[in-house]
Amino acid sequence: MELSGSGGGDGRRTRATAHELARYEALFASRTRGMKSSAMREMMALTEQPDVISLAGGLPDTTTFAPELYAKLMAEVAADSAARALQYGPTEGMAVTTRCIVEVMAAEGTHVDASEVIVTTGGQQVIDLVCKTLIDPGDVIVAEAPTYPGAVPTFSAYQAHVEQIEMDADGMPIDELERTLDRLQSAGRRPKFIYTIPNFQNPGGVTMSMPRRRRLIEVARERELLILEDNPYGLLRYEGEALPTLYSLDADAIGRGGGSDLVIYLGTFSKILSPGLRLGWAVATRPVLEKLNLGKQGADLCSSPVTQLFVAAFFDERGARGGPAWLEYVEDLRQHYSRRRDAMLEALDQHFGDGAHWTRPQGGLFVWATLDDRIDTTDLLALARKTEGVAFVPGRAAYVDGRSGASSMRLNFAGVPEEKIREGVRRIGRAMRAQLGLLGSLSAGGARGAVQRRDAHEGRGAPAEDDAHLADVVELPRREAKRTARRRSE
Ligand SMILES: Cc1ncc(COP(=O)(O)O)c(C=O)c1O
Repeated sequence: MELSGSGGGDGRRTRATAHELARYEALFASRTRGMKSSAMREMMALTEQPDVISLAGGLPDTTTFAPELYAKLMAEVAADSAARALQYGPTEGMAVTTRCIVEVMAAEGTHVDASEVIVTTGGQQVIDLVCKTLIDPGDVIVAEAPTYPGAVPTFSAYQAHVEQIEMDADGMPIDELERTLDRLQSAGRRPKFIYTIPNFQNPGGVTMSMPRRRRLIEVARERELLILEDNPYGLLRYEGEALPTLYSLDADAIGRGGGSDLVIYLGTFSKILSPGLRLGWAVATRPVLEKLNLGKQGADLCSSPVTQLFVAAFFDERGARGGPAWLEYVEDLRQHYSRRRDAMLEALDQHFGDGAHWTRPQGGLFVWATLDDRIDTTDLLALARKTEGVAFVPGRAAYVDGRSGASSMRLNFAGVPEEKIREGVRRIGRAMRAQLGLLGSLSAGGARGAVQRRDAHEGRGAPAEDDAHLADVVELPRREAKRTARRRSE
């Protein structure tokens, strides 16, 4: 059951061999050389394998949406608007859907004008369109460290130079950001945008504090910098006070009663309703919005009218408790996920031991755990999958250089039931101890092996050969280092 070279476990092969690729080498655009496979693609395949407990994907629990309601809403769309649903729609999105987005933004405490919204094919498309609009090869993006693993291949595809700023419990330290900006400035460089996930960060699980939000907006205004605020999880808060969006803070700072002119806001229905709808949105100032629209025309003309009308029908629905159905659904999700988060934190206390530490998110879907620094979680994933049937996202996937984050992992607590969370964490704990035992029992040679392994990841020295098959489980940037090292030694 190798992940590499196979799709969702049903025999569909998804990766070409080196031999097959070589035939087309001369035809591929140079930017394809920088393209990296996201760990996420592999993780998505894993979720389809019933024998693996996957704490890896960014999955919400779609079993919480009542099938009868889904059927009723789809029947309504069919009865009332079949022809519209089956037709192309406007690139900027349907007005009925944009109204729903304005409502979600209001629930986030953020007033937006419908004319500053574009409906997209998931939030992922916003990241792509923002890069398409702003990034020439070599342009700088500043991002958090760790950052959203799904953004890493997008940044790479546009050949951006990404500066990552290590977070602490309060998110991105703005003084560190300013030092980075100063350093870039003295080299004559100015980032095209700052990418941040301020709430329950994916994968870090931390939230940017209020003083840092304010300071970030001040810095952006002082230096005229754009911010891409990625906020899929803001409404999934399980404890503590909601904090204002960067978009609203900037709009307030301008003070004309309009929108922000420096923050591009990314929202999505994926985590508050369903990722299968593939609907997200951007809110941006008009000149930026127009470019995003042009980029989207080239990408997919419009997002699906079928799912846009589904969303509109759902937002018209009253819930069992008399409020808007969508808001009641989000309230139910909050309780559901908060129980799952607690189950994961308890299981981590029980099975991860003293050498590890992890974040305690107030919301969202993820915990970020950091283990004994002798452990490389890319290797651990291979072992855990093979011997324990459990998966997580290795930390390297959240770093553009693929070198940092080696001892960390992202764990999703939303997508599987509590018993499986407990069992999954127990199994990872067992794999972790086995890995440590293995490192410990390999006397002098073994210790050398571990060091050699690290060196190989960092592009120094040759990789340990017996490690090669482990690296194949997920394609992470380290494979590049290994291949380069191998090529050099050939
Ligand atoms: C931080 C972040 N941004 C963007 C996305 C993209 O989500 P989607 O394209 O499903 O809206 C995700 C999904 O997990 C995410 O976690």
